[in-house]
Amino acid sequence: MYLSKEDEGILKGKSGIGTQKALELLAAIGDAYDARRMVPITRAHAAASGQEGDLYFAELLANGGARCRVPTSTNPVYDIGYFHRMFSNIPKDEASVAQKVVEAYRRLGAILSWSCVPYLNENIPLYGEVVSFSESSATPYVNSVIGAHTNREAAQSALAAGVIGKTPEYGLLLEENRKATHLFEVEATLSDEFDYSLLGYYVGKIVAYGIPVLTGIDRRPSTEEFINFCAMSNTSGAVSMFYMPEYTMEASSMDEAFHGDVPKERAVVTDVELKEVREELQTTAGEIDFVQLGCPHYTLKQVAEVAGLLDGKRIHDGVAFWVCTSATAKLLADRIGYSSQIEKAGGHLVADTCIDEPCWIAYKQKVGMTDSPKCAYYRRFKEVVVGRLEDCVNAAVKGRWG
Ligand code: F3S
Repeated sequence: MYLSKEDEGILKGKSGIGTQKALELLAAIGDAYDARRMVPITRAHAAASGQEGDLYFAELLANGGARCRVPTSTNPVYDIGYFHRMFSNIPKDEASVAQKVVEAYRRLGAILSWSCVPYLNENIPLYGEVVSFSESSATPYVNSVIGAHTNREAAQSALAAGVIGKTPEYGLLLEENRKATHLFEVEATLSDEFDYSLLGYYVGKIVAYGIPVLTGIDRRPSTEEFINFCAMSNTSGAVSMFYMPEYTMEASSMDEAFHGDVPKERAVVTDVELKEVREELQTTAGEIDFVQLGCPHYTLKQVAEVAGLLDGKRIHDGVAFWVCTSATAKLLADRIGYSSQIEKAGGHLVADTCIDEPCWIAYKQKVGMTDSPKCAYYRRFKEVVVGRLEDCVNAAVKGRWG
């Protein structure tokens, strides 16, 4: 891969060892994918979590004096002080890793957003920008809904790109690789974001690394519906980009999406397939111990819906009720009063964290209910019930589902 004189100097350590390590990683990726050159990026999102691999790389760069050259946002970790007040059994070694990840990203000069939907508030690409975004919903959302260009980055490659301000040009950064592969004719009823979650999960399993086109969708999906489709298709599969002609930014027709070619595979999606996805993810029914919402992080609109659904109700004794959101949405929810409405009913609205963090160890042997197939897939608890938001709220009030 061609490197500029400045980059050659960085590789020789002239800008410090942290920056050198970041470029070494990007150069190796570029060589592996036969990239011809590096291209500038305008922003990055590093989907690190509070785990040891993330810590190793972030500290390697931070201890070597690296700083982010372009705005680089961060994925959820957890608010250590808050969770240690709530639960006494979070392992000290895991908490210490999370604390050190937070410190390393602070030293790297990252945007400490701790959000998995940074493209809504803290780090928003525009159409046509070249960026390096990791995280399940972020990569396909940025490519398809916004029309920026990113590869499906890892936390480490996105952080390295944020430090260097460049990324190797390969994959989805090249027009010819943005060609659709699969066609889905959607006949299923899509009434809310839960249906889009199931659709995404189903599509991702079939497509794997391909680029699907979805037709038959009779109205523009909402922001939340797009977010959930993106997160789930990039969890059950590795969908980095998709087309819904008329609703996504590139390709106004099927022919354009397939670059004039024909689909490799076609499928029709009906309510039956979506029902099967839900049944496959759900492991139990009956009594529940807790409800977990906000995977991906709930938007302010979703937080408002939870507050509205809980109005005048009380969560059942013995059921915990958690809603995860971004710090930005939480701040507004506090101001507007949604947080206190949720708390009044016995629930918690919490920022900066993720269902896949060690702070939830108290629920390891419990039965949880969620509206998120991704949460069910990464299940950090014993059994799971999957239902739409209203089902989750009703079950939390009754203490059981079904
Ligand atoms: Fe976000 Fe964590 Fe779910 S990063 S999408 S809350 S697994």
